[in-house]
Formats: sequence, C-alpha cells, structure tokens
Amino acid sequence: MLSLTLTTFSVNPFCGIIQSMDANIVRQKFLDFQVSKGHKIISPAPLVLEGDPTTLFTGSGMQPLLPFLLGKKHPEGTRLCDSQPSMRLQDIEDVGDPRHTTVFEMLGNWSLGDYFKEEQIRNFFEFLTKEIGLDPNRIYVTCFIGNEKYGIPQDMEAAKIWQKVFKEAGIEAKIAEIGSAKEGDKRGIKPGERIFFYDDHENWWSRGGGCETTPIGDPCGPDSEVFYDFGEDKQDVEKYGLAHPASDGARFMEIGNQVFMQYRRNEDGTFSELEQKNVDFGAGLERITAASIDSFDVFKISLMKPIIEKLEAISHKSYDNNTDEMRVIADHIRGAYLLAGQGLVPSNKTQGYAMRRLLRRAILRALDLGVSDNFLSEIVPIVADIYRDLPDSILTHREMALEVMLREENAFRKTLNKGLRELHKIAKQSSDGLSGYDLFKLQDTYGFPMELSVEECYRESIKISDEYQKEFEKALTEQRERSQTASKGMFKGGLEDHGEQTIKYHTATHLLLAALQKLISKDIVQKGSNTTAERLRFDFNLDHKMTDEEKKQVEDQVNQWIEMDLPVVYDEYDKDYAKNTLKAHGQFWDKYPEKLKVYTIGDFDNPISREVCGGPHVEHTGQIGKFRIKKEESSSAGVRRIKAVIE
Ligand code: ALA
Repeated sequence: MLSLTLTTFSVNPFCGIIQSMDANIVRQKFLDFQVSKGHKIISPAPLVLEGDPTTLFTGSGMQPLLPFLLGKKHPEGTRLCDSQPSMRLQDIEDVGDPRHTTVFEMLGNWSLGDYFKEEQIRNFFEFLTKEIGLDPNRIYVTCFIGNEKYGIPQDMEAAKIWQKVFKEAGIEAKIAEIGSAKEGDKRGIKPGERIFFYDDHENWWSRGGGCETTPIGDPCGPDSEVFYDFGEDKQDVEKYGLAHPASDGARFMEIGNQVFMQYRRNEDGTFSELEQKNVDFGAGLERITAASIDSFDVFKISLMKPIIEKLEAISHKSYDNNTDEMRVIADHIRGAYLLAGQGLVPSNKTQGYAMRRLLRRAILRALDLGVSDNFLSEIVPIVADIYRDLPDSILTHREMALEVMLREENAFRKTLNKGLRELHKIAKQSSDGLSGYDLFKLQDTYGFPMELSVEECYRESIKISDEYQKEFEKALTEQRERSQTASKGMFKGGLEDHGEQTIKYHTATHLLLAALQKLISKDIVQKGSNTTAERLRFDFNLDHKMTDEEKKQVEDQVNQWIEMDLPVVYDEYDKDYAKNTLKAHGQFWDKYPEKLKVYTIGDFDNPISREVCGGPHVEHTGQIGKFRIKKEESSSAGVRRIKAVIE
C-alpha cells in the first residue's frame, strides 16, 4: 500500500499555489492516472537480474517487456503501467551533480500496438500540468531529426502534435531546427521556440543507445523527450554553453521520455518497421517529484531529504557546502540498500561487486566529510523507511539488508584501519615523514587510498614529501612494469606505456577477443597484441577478410559490454586450475610460471572474458569509452589484424 503522507504547499512564482509533493504521492498519482486511461498496473521486475549474462540489473521499465514490444501477447492486455526500480551503474561517475543517481524508480506506461503518438503526448502533458501542477510555460520538448543513412524520417508528426497540444494550453510553440546538442550549445534558444529536433544521440532510444549502437534484434525508435525549465540563471554558460533542452547545464531537466517503438534492428544492421507500433514511456519518479517542488536538485525530494538531513547531523556539516559528497553517499547507500533488500551480498563477482563498490565509495566519501566511525546503522533504517512502500516482491530480504550492509562496513573499516596503523608506523620510523612511495605502498598493499593518507598526514602534522604526487606516479608505473615483466610473453608486444588510456585499450583488447570468439569463431585465439595510448592492434587467426557486417557486429558487441559497465576482477591461481578449471584463455601455457594472474570480465561463473594476463586493467568496463574498429587487414598467412580506437 502506498501511504499518503506529507503533503505541503508552496508558492510557485509561475502558477501561484501548487501542491508540492511527496514522491509516494507522485508515484500513486501516476499509476491512478494511467489506470484512468485504461492501463493495467503490472508488477515491477526485480532489480537484480539472474541468469542473464548480458545485463546485471534492470535499467528501465521496458526491459522486462521486450518480448511484448516485439509482438508477443501480454496477459494483461495492450495498455500497461508500473513503477520500476532501476539501476544504471554507467552513470556512477555523474553522481554528485543535481540530477544523476545510480538507482531510481522509472514510472512507465506502454501501448503494445494500441494508442500511438497523439494519445501518449496528450496524456503525458495532461498528467504533468493537471495532476502534478507543472507550469506548461516551463515545458520544452524534443523530437527526432531523422537519419538519412538508415532511411528514418524526421518525426514531424510528433512535433505537430506537440504544437497542437501547446496551442490548446494557450502557448504558441515554435519549432527550432537543431541537429546536435553541440549546435544547440552555440545557438541557444530563439524567442518562442519550444520544440527542438536532435539527432539519434539524443532522440533515438534503444537499449544500446543511438542508431549505430542499437543491438541486433532489439525494438527501438525515435523518441520525444520532455524537459522542465528551471530558469536561465541555472545555466553555467561558460562551462556548458548556451542553454537549450539537451544542454548539460542545470537550466533544463529531462522529466520524461516517450519512445515510439516502431522499428526493429535487423541482422544486417538496417532497421525495419514493426507491424505493432508501440509506445514505451519512462520518467524518473525522482525527477518529476523534484519538478513538482520546483527544485532542480533531486536530492531535495522526500526520497532523499531525510538521508541528507541525517548526514548533516552526523557530520556537523551543511549540505550546501558539501553537496557533492552528500549526494554520492545518499545515492550509493540507497542503491546498496535496494540490492541488499533483494538478497544480494557484497562480493568480488558481478552484481555483488557492484554493491561492494557502492558501499565502499559511500564510506570513503563519508571520510571526506570527517565521518570515520560506522554510520550505516544510522542511515540504513532511514532508507528502509523511505522504501517501506516498495512491494515485498521487490524487497524480499528487508530484514537482512541492514546486517549485510553493516558487515561490509565493518570489513572495509578494518582494511582502512590496518592501513592507518601502517601509516603511523612508517611515520614513526622515518624522520623525513612519508614519501609518495610510502603512500603507494599503503594504497597497493593495504587498500588505503592515497587521498586519505594525505589527509591523515595533514591532520596529524606528519611530514609529507613535496614531491609525493610525482613519487606516487613513479611507484605506480614501476609496479605496472614489474607486473608486465612477470607476465612477459603473455601478450606479445605488451603495454608500451602505462597511462590511463593504454590501460583502457588493454581491457578493450580482452573484450575484442571475447567478441570475436562469440560472433566470428570460437576457435579464434590471440596471435599478437600491441597497445599504446592511441590505439590497439590485435592479431588473431581467421581464414577470411572480415565483412563490414562482421566488423560492425563485433564493434557493437564490445560497445554493449562497455555500456553494461561490467566489473573487471583478477586473482592469482595455480596454472593447472587456471587452465583446466577456470578455462582461462592463454597463449603460452608451457611458458607461464606456476602461479599466474587471471582477469575476469563480467559474471564470475559465466564470464564474458577470462584471460591469463599481467594487467593492469580498468576496474569496470564503463571506464573504457566508445570503441571503434578502424581497420581489419591481413597480418600474415591465416592471421588477421584489427586496429581499433577508443573515442
Ligand atoms: N525506455 C525509455 C527510457 O529508458 C523510456 O528512457
């Protein structure tokens, strides 16, 4: 049951007095509204997915509905709605700004071959303006400009419907021609413009992103996004350019996305029209609620505020001066709680690893606030209370969640304390204080982050070398060289430079081999590899020149794994175990030492890639960036060579 509590009133300068809402009310209003329009409420899917090697978490409301969007009959009919807890770990680095979160609830409604553009656009506009009380003058929308290469027309139909709907609300909405977000950053908004056209980076939706990266077989289509205007003064023009709906600044916030799912990606990369024209609508509950209280900051809504207030109380610091840290902590604990509530425990494998990462990041950011004692026991009950209305079918392990999280906090603190003790031991032994080499050792051996060492030294007036950063870098490089030497022969050519970029290329090489084995031939093995900061070069056995289509598929596959932000973990094993039990890919089994390092990407028990390798690698594939094959050519008889870049 959803409770109807905490309704307050505030003055909105645009439309007088409006109700400012608790997120639980917004969720309920959305579902009630959709039911009044003939939709059936369906149960949300679990957040943690099992047995799906391609996806770790549910990331949108449509994900569980894929077969029905492709034409299968749904037992509940053709009009459905729900509120789906979703997780997008690929956004983790963006958390800290006013609107990104790793977990959120997606309010969704679907037409499975039932109504189409006009009814969807009308309904959503009505919901926002009549039910939530948003000011129609502050609503801006975007539509798809078309894609010549794939023969997909500009979505003038949606734009015209929007014009009509705005007109009925007394607003003359002009259509602006904008091709890309970059163009908009320079051009801004001309008077009266309210409807904007962007390319497939903004206004095409598939699980893989734009047209080029739409997964084969997936439903997809042009979309029309809806934005709320928080005022010109919110735009940092120097940093983000002029404001327009898709700009990165804080003036506009996307509050809903209507996907007109009318295409499917074919095996040959082209798109064909689906017989069944669907609507896939999704909106972040957190964002609509933020708009309803006229806040461009989603961390001020009822699902977040109690956590932030508790953090302020615990740290004796204000949110206004520590927004970044508090947003990360609040988001990550929320995320970890939802995972723990579904029975997940922290581990070094896939989903468990994601949970561990969220918790550890939260604990480290709390240290930045000066909170060095256990604090989850104070925060988690608040999160649990915030989520009391989520169904038991989602939170199957409510009771255990706190305990699981506290255990992880204790374990991590032990690690940190060991590092701290070691730091003081070194400081005592050396009259010169700590060098960057010492800091490196603390991080490498004790898992105690360099930044924390530096802070502790300042706090305790321990001397620290002026050159500590340089020394740290040097120690890092030396260590990587050592591990490269240890694994000499494991990859011909090896790493020539250990910058961050090279490391990304190195992990991309593992993904490339895995994609070739999956899509081209399982017998493909590495025949040579050379990685620099500018490109990767990879040699492998294949008896034919790869077709453009094969290259495209391999490229798409690698990008899909990158977008899934899979964990990259390693451990040391006995050679026999690595070869015969773990079935790791290796090139020189007879030359390897008895103990060797194995890197695993993805689910530990069902990995996407597992290779004998000295490393180093990125920690999770989302760090890599966009992968592109530049060239595929012959290297020697029966050996092909791929050159690829990260963009
Ligand atoms: N599936 C669409 C999205 O996630 C609605 O934005």
